[in-house]
Amino acid sequence: MKVYLVTGGAGFIGSNFIHYMLKKYNDIFIVNLDHLTYAGNLENLTKIEKYDNYQFVKADISDNEAIKNVFEKHDIDYVVNFAAESHVDRSIQNPDIFVKTNVLGTANLLNAAKDKWELDNGDFQAGKKFIQVSTDEVYGSLGKEGLFSETTPLDPHSPYSSSKASADLIVKSYFDTYKFPVNITRCSNNYGPYQFPEKMIPLVINNCLNLLDIPLYGDGLNVRDWLYVEDHCKAIDLVIQGAAPGEIYNVGGYNEKTNIELVKTIIKYLHDNVNEDITEELITYVQDRKGHDRRYAINSEKITRDLGWKPDVTWESGIRETIKWYLENQAWMENIMNESYKEYYRLTYETK
Ligand code: NAD
Ligand code: TYD
Repeated sequence: MKVYLVTGGAGFIGSNFIHYMLKKYNDIFIVNLDHLTYAGNLENLTKIEKYDNYQFVKADISDNEAIKNVFEKHDIDYVVNFAAESHVDRSIQNPDIFVKTNVLGTANLLNAAKDKWELDNGDFQAGKKFIQVSTDEVYGSLGKEGLFSETTPLDPHSPYSSSKASADLIVKSYFDTYKFPVNITRCSNNYGPYQFPEKMIPLVINNCLNLLDIPLYGDGLNVRDWLYVEDHCKAIDLVIQGAAPGEIYNVGGYNEKTNIELVKTIIKYLHDNVNEDITEELITYVQDRKGHDRRYAINSEKITRDLGWKPDVTWESGIRETIKWYLENQAWMENIMNESYKEYYRLTYETK
C-alpha cells in the first residue's frame, strides 16, 4: 500500500485531489497535513473523513519537529505539496507569510523527506518521490502571442509567484545536486468545487447571488487559461505514477478567456437560471491589481506526449457544473463568509 503525504489537502485543489485519489485507488493511504489557515476547510473533506485509509494532521509545513514526526510515524512514499499561501492579492498586501510558507515550508518538507529516504551510499529508497505543485505564474506574463513551455525562463512578478518560483528552484536543486527524486507541475488557473471565494470564479458567483458589485480589475481584458480542477488532479496522478525523476510538466486547458468574458458567462447562466436581476449592470470596473500579469497560456504538449494526459472536461460543461455546485452548496459558502473574510473583502475592495 502506497502512503501519500498530501500537504494543503484542506484547500481547494488539495481536497479535490484527495477525493480524486480515494475514488480511483482503494489500496492507498493518505495523510492530509494542513495548517488550516483561513483557506483550509475540513468541510471540504466530510465525505471521506471517516475512511480507514485517510488521516488528518494539523501542522505547519515549516514546523521542523511536526514534519519530522509525520515522517517517523508513517512510511511515506509520495509527498504531494499543495500547501501554500495561494492568492496574489493577499501576497501584495502581506508578502512575508508567502516567503515563510511557500519557500521555507517547502524547503523544510524537502529536508524531512530527504533525511528519511536517503540511504548510506547517498542514493534514495526506490519508489519514493516528492511532487511540488507549482503554477504557470512562475513564468510571468505573456503578450498577445505565445504559450509558456517548460523551458520558458522563470520571470515571476507578484510576491506569490516569486515565492512559488523560489520553491521550484530549491526543489529542482535537490534533484540537480543530490538526485533526490522530484517532479514539478506548473498548472494554469483551476476552477471547480471547494474554491475559496477570494478567487475570481467563486467571488463572482457569490456576488451575483447577493446582487453585489462584481469588481473587475483594470480593463477586464487580462487573460487566464482555465482548467477544471479534476483534470489537474488527473495530471498530478499521472506525474506521480509515470514521470521520471527531475522532470517538470506544464498543465493547461487551451482555454483562454478574458476576465470580462468569464464574468459575462457566469452572469448569463445565473440570469437565465436563478434570478433575472443578475445582469451585466453588476460589473464594476475597479483600480487594477498592482503588477497585474496580462496573459497566461500553457503549452501542455510535453505531458500529453510523455504521460498521455489531456483534459476531459470542456469549458462549457465545467463552468456549468461549477456554478451548479456553488448553487447547491450555499451553506458551504456561507460558513466561509465569516468576519475575517468580510474584513479581507473590505480591505481589498473598499479602496479600489
Ligand atoms: P488554497 O489556498 O485553496 O489551499 C492552500 C491550503 O494550504 C489550505 O488548506 C491551507 O490551510 C494550507 N496551508 C497554507 N499554509 C500552510 C502551511 N504553512 N502548512 C500547512 N498547510 C498550509 O490553494 P489552492 O488553490 O488549492 O492551491 C494549491 C496549490 O496549487 C498551491 O501550491 C498553488 O500554488 C498551486 N496552484 C494553484 C492554482 C489555482 O488556480 N488555484 C493553479 C496552479 C497551481
Ligand atoms: P484570481 O482568481 O485571483 O487568480 P490569479 O490572479 O492567480 O490568476 O484572478 C483571476 C483573474 O481575475 C486575474 O486576472 C485577476 C482578476 N480579478 C478581478 O478582475 N477581480 C477580482 O475581484 C479578482 C479576485 C480577480
